[in-house]
Amino acid sequence: MSTTSGSKIPNSLQEHWMPFTSNKDFKENPRLITGAKGVYLTNHKGKTMIDASSGLFCNPFGHGRKEITEAVAKQLEQLDYCQPFQQGFGGSFELATKISRHTPGNLNRIFYTICGSTAVETAIKIAIAYHRAKGDSKRFRFVGRERAYHGMNIGATSVGGMINNVKTFASVLMPGVLHMRHTHLAEHKFISGQPDTGAELADDLERICVNFGGENIAACIVEPIAGSTGTLVPPKGYLNKLREICDKHGILLIFDEVITGWGRTGSAFAAQEFNVTPDMMTMAKATTNGVVPMGVVACKEEIYNAVMDASPKGAVELFHGYTYSGIPVSVAAALAVQKIIEDEDIFSRAKEMAPYFQKELFTLKDIDVVENIRGYGMMGGIDMKINVKAGKAGFECFKSCYEAGVNFKATGDCLIIAPQFICEKKHIDEIIDKLRTGILNYSKNLKN
Ligand SMILES: Cc1ncc(COP(=O)(O)O)c(C=O)c1O
Repeated sequence: MSTTSGSKIPNSLQEHWMPFTSNKDFKENPRLITGAKGVYLTNHKGKTMIDASSGLFCNPFGHGRKEITEAVAKQLEQLDYCQPFQQGFGGSFELATKISRHTPGNLNRIFYTICGSTAVETAIKIAIAYHRAKGDSKRFRFVGRERAYHGMNIGATSVGGMINNVKTFASVLMPGVLHMRHTHLAEHKFISGQPDTGAELADDLERICVNFGGENIAACIVEPIAGSTGTLVPPKGYLNKLREICDKHGILLIFDEVITGWGRTGSAFAAQEFNVTPDMMTMAKATTNGVVPMGVVACKEEIYNAVMDASPKGAVELFHGYTYSGIPVSVAAALAVQKIIEDEDIFSRAKEMAPYFQKELFTLKDIDVVENIRGYGMMGGIDMKINVKAGKAGFECFKSCYEAGVNFKATGDCLIIAPQFICEKKHIDEIIDKLRTGILNYSKNLKN
């Protein structure tokens, strides 16, 4: 890297157009991360910060895991790439078997993608292919939910429900998509765990079926816990109701477990945690501990069988796939993750730490600019009081917390906290202490 003398800042920051970033603000005051180990990150000023959001929910097993680095290096030396179409390599089959041991019910058929967005896009296409295979081609509608985030390609943006992501691209989104209301109610104040009220919001799906014909709907997609809009935990009974309504109308239920998958709730998947089995599940992020991209769609056997049975032998059954679907380097990282999960009993570890994390998170309730806190398992959302204009407080507060030595993700007016599963109590304490310092500094600056 070419840098200005003695500094870790590259000579020019102008050429890189950064994603989901206020580029002008960043380039005036860059935040560059130069190293990561365990639960800590180092920035270009040499400052150590604790990682309170596992990267972007990606690295719950800790940064710099040697087991993963070594597996990836070994794989690259042996077989760096092979075409995933009409040929393959053993690792992707081995991984599919391992993944299917953790998925609920008979979601045993595993399709690899590149990331969370492409996993969602793939689930959308598989839903259409499944209904067509069963001779039910009129199902073209999809139901998503307000305040949902499913990624940024056209399909995922269409079923998503975060206004800023949708507004600019409204003219090119998928037709036929309808949205249920989100599950956050004004009365859901400072609740750790599932709210008692709000299950009736699932009736929005029934209403959509009545108004638009349940027989026209291919699938309904939800995040079991909406992550990117600040940990919106489903009310008790809500997901069960969605399942019942989908069954009644022959609609496929897709759980987007890109954040909640691989232990975030304390179970392998939120599906098991909330005891509701979807027809398809998407995952990404922690699948490889975030070090190389990979997305996954797990499907019920019936879905796979229907698509297989609809084509003659020798034909390509599903016209879909990616150059990087299940490539060796991603598979090697994911297999190493599977071993870590087994050897370190990771899900139990997350489940054991969750009550402590939740208790400590809610101690921040006494700060006057903290408007609300929500949480479940190793996930939490802190709503900040709106400052001048809605949507600004999260980022401003994030900057103050970054200075205080804690890193995480902010969206709108919300801070999103998702500690790594390898955290010990002392790390949770450090996260909460630094959040308190950062939030208080932010609030002092507001008053001055
Ligand atoms: C629930 C959910 N689905 C899909 C995605 C998109 O994943 P990616 O950014 O890997 O495409 C995200 C990303 O945060 C997500 O949280």
